[in-house]
Amino acid sequence: EKGGYEHFMLKEIHEQPKAVQDTIGAYLKGNQIDFSEIGLEDEELASIERFYIIGCGSAYHVAMAAKYVLEDMTQIPVEIDIASEFRYRNPILVKNSLVVIISQSGETADSLAALRLAKEKGAAVLGIVNVVGSSIARESDYTLYTYAGPEISVATTKAYSTQLVAMYLVAMRTAQIRGLLSDEDCEKMIAELQTLPKKIQKILDDKERIQWFASKYANAKDMFFLGRGLDYAISLEGSLKMKEISYIHSEAYAAGELKHGTISLIEDNTLVVGILTQSNLYEKTVSNMVEVKSRGAYLMGLTTYGNYSIEDNADFSVYVPKTDPHFATSLAIIPLQLLGYYVSVAKGLDVDKPRNLAKSVTVE
Ligand code: M6R
Repeated sequence: EKGGYEHFMLKEIHEQPKAVQDTIGAYLKGNQIDFSEIGLEDEELASIERFYIIGCGSAYHVAMAAKYVLEDMTQIPVEIDIASEFRYRNPILVKNSLVVIISQSGETADSLAALRLAKEKGAAVLGIVNVVGSSIARESDYTLYTYAGPEISVATTKAYSTQLVAMYLVAMRTAQIRGLLSDEDCEKMIAELQTLPKKIQKILDDKERIQWFASKYANAKDMFFLGRGLDYAISLEGSLKMKEISYIHSEAYAAGELKHGTISLIEDNTLVVGILTQSNLYEKTVSNMVEVKSRGAYLMGLTTYGNYSIEDNADFSVYVPKTDPHFATSLAIIPLQLLGYYVSVAKGLDVDKPRNLAKSVTVE
């Protein structure tokens, strides 16, 4: 049932090209994005004045990445929230809000409660859900299924990746309807989106390098992930992977925030992963890399092919293929999933069933 893989997590990591391809394919009609089958009409998307995107854990990290993409592409304000926070803070939902609830299982108690609260307050709810017929899928006004297939490993990988592409599709279609993305440019973006499965595969084909690095650093006590913008959103997810399956204390930081306190934790050989996929922020994050390096950090740089100057500072560099910067999260997360996985394996831990955790958190 693990298809020849040692763990479900590794199997699911390898299923990502297909999961991403299937999810994109489900919402394309010819070379147009089409949500009419889920009842989400263009008029609804055209009238949105605010997005609220809500989830727990990794689903919240997707919300954060989606915020950057949606705001940049649609110019519509986006608020994001952790479901357990949203439900208890008496949120103000302005008129014409679309509340997006992201959940793999569709049964997460806090996310379901957030959905019900949003409906009570009169907002329309779009559920991004993987499990067919789950509570969140049933109770949403519109249900956009992701096509990851069953995910067994507690640490999410392929569901996360499909949630990201689902959000790109929502952003692209909304931008197109609002006249912010021409039909021609939208087609170009779709074509680029369709290259992601191949690019993910290319990263997977190089996994031995990450495995080698993971075995070398498996006994690290602390780890830091740094990035700006979308790279900060990836940092959060990379850091969570490390914590949940490898039991390494890890923090994700917005790179510019580092010198406001956290940098005092950096000492000789502290492992720092710098993520630099956004070319407009590259130099800014490099300067943060220099700062940690000069305090003795051991630095892994994660960037796109071509940015070879990263090697001036990084002790170990990982490159992912170039893509539209909005989609970079989908590629940069793959080496970080592999890193978490291989550290866990090197430590001999129970990768698929980490201690204290359940796949689906159905109680608050
Ligand atoms: O089923 P859901 O997507 O609602 O689950 C949300 C979180 O519990 C989940 O993403 C969790 O953070 C994962 N174990 C992370 O790998």
